[in-house]
Amino acid sequence: MNTQPLTGKRALVTGASRGIGRAIALALAEAGADVAVLARGGDALESVAAEIKDLGRQGVPVVCDVTDPARIDAAVGEAVDALGGLDIAVNNAGGFNWTGPFLDMTAADWEEVRGLNLDASVSLLRRVGAHLTAQGSGSVLNVSSIAGLGGAPRLSFYAVCKAAMISLTHTLAVEWAASGVRVNAIAPGWIDTALTGSFTAHDQVRLGLQSEVPQDRWGRPEDVAGAAVYLSCDGAAFVTGSVLVLDGGLTSQLSHVARNLLDLGRAAA
Ligand SMILES: NC(=O)c1ccc[n+]([C@@H]2O[C@H](COP(=O)([O-])OP(=O)(O)OC[C@H]3O[C@@H](n4cnc5c(N)ncnc54)[C@H](OP(=O)(O)O)[C@@H]3O)[C@@H](O)[C@H]2O)c1
Repeated sequence: MNTQPLTGKRALVTGASRGIGRAIALALAEAGADVAVLARGGDALESVAAEIKDLGRQGVPVVCDVTDPARIDAAVGEAVDALGGLDIAVNNAGGFNWTGPFLDMTAADWEEVRGLNLDASVSLLRRVGAHLTAQGSGSVLNVSSIAGLGGAPRLSFYAVCKAAMISLTHTLAVEWAASGVRVNAIAPGWIDTALTGSFTAHDQVRLGLQSEVPQDRWGRPEDVAGAAVYLSCDGAAFVTGSVLVLDGGLTSQLSHVARNLLDLGRAAA
């Protein structure tokens, strides 16, 4: 088996200073890629770049607030120049600072979450898409969420952006197929990162969410990284427009049905 299927590839990962983006950037480097890591800056970003260099690859920190379209344009240019080209783009930066019922959301809340989770994705995809389609090859990976696959109470504003990323994945996979560019998405379930820290900090919430996961555990960022390597490598050359769900089985079960069956099983025992 080829343990370095990305040798010679040049990758860019947004939101790579911690969590899922960091794990993906390190996994791409372990698989042989040189990687530009984008985030708003600071020691964490520098240290991911240093970890990539320790793996023997080129690690390039690029300071970029993805909510600023002009900065995205410049930052992608800086990454391309530093790496000598671009083959893989991972659109990962995202998150939320607020959760609550749809009717409690203010216009400012909506603008903020849309700016980070949807508008920034559009800006990034336009910039890297122009580069990769002109080049005639490449792989784009959108980090969506299982929140984009169904109803997500208290996360409606975030979920609609993640659903839109899945829609864009399908459309761009078709539009860019003739140009040799593949576009896929991953939809992680509950992953233990800073983003979900306010959930994992409370035992009742942490265990309650975990109890709905058939594997009975929270995912780790590393659980997501292997899928990113696969979807980015030439072994996935025929895979485009796909959405790979990484959730320990959460969305595969109808939880109310599963609970009823479990209760029946217990009653029968
Ligand atoms: N954790 C989960 O359970 C889960 C589940 C499904 C999907 N996801 C998705 O996975 C992605 C990563 O989430 P995570 O859990 O790893 O979150 P995280 O630990 O909070 O990391 C978020 C990353 O995005 C960067 N970022 C945030 N705002 C940014 C901005 N304006 N410009 C540039 N970079 C920015 C952060 O770096 P700086 O703060 O340094 O800029 C950081 O590197 C997100 O798209 C999230 O929606 C997460």
